[in-house]
Amino acid sequence: MTTPSQLLESNRKWAAHVVQERPSFFQALVSQQAPEFLWIGCSDSRVPASEILGIMPGEVFVHRNVANLVHQTDVNCLSVLEYGIEFLRVRHIIVCGHYGCGGIEAALETHPHALVDNWLRGIHNVYRKHRRVLDGLPDREARLRALCEFNVREQVLNAARTTVLQTAWRDGRPIAVHGWIYKLSDGLLKDLNISLYSQDDLDAALDPIA
Ligand code: CO
Repeated sequence: MTTPSQLLESNRKWAAHVVQERPSFFQALVSQQAPEFLWIGCSDSRVPASEILGIMPGEVFVHRNVANLVHQTDVNCLSVLEYGIEFLRVRHIIVCGHYGCGGIEAALETHPHALVDNWLRGIHNVYRKHRRVLDGLPDREARLRALCEFNVREQVLNAARTTVLQTAWRDGRPIAVHGWIYKLSDGLLKDLNISLYSQDDLDAALDPIA
């Protein structure tokens, strides 16, 4: 088992290694952060943004919560979005889900869990919205995988519908919202090809018939 002091020791080794490779790396980050990307992902320990993207500190602004949800009333998520867009001037928002998400699974179970059930309530609505497709799938595993993807799609729409994004697009800012999903079993990310680049894209996604 790893102890907290071992974590601190591991950190010292990591920092020493980085300095050895790039002597001015940390000094350069002291004065500013200028990430191009804002990541909205799951809190799951197996899905850490920088590590799976293979990038160093300073390149991605991160918000994580259980099941990578964007609630319109979540001041935490909205503050991250606003700070990322207004002050850091990020260009891309990536909503990233993952297969095997415990939050998605918990939302489908009928027995109560705890406070987290309130947090996950919206996933029931995602299920209901896509019930016909989901119920037509062969087994529970397939349904869960599909629901993980549908949830990412819903959160992409939710992120685009925030007042923060709406204002940025109205001001003509070039900001894109992307939906990706991560596979725990091979470490690979998949683009769900549901990116939104403008208000028109959002309108079309919300009302595909129009
Ligand atoms: Co998860």
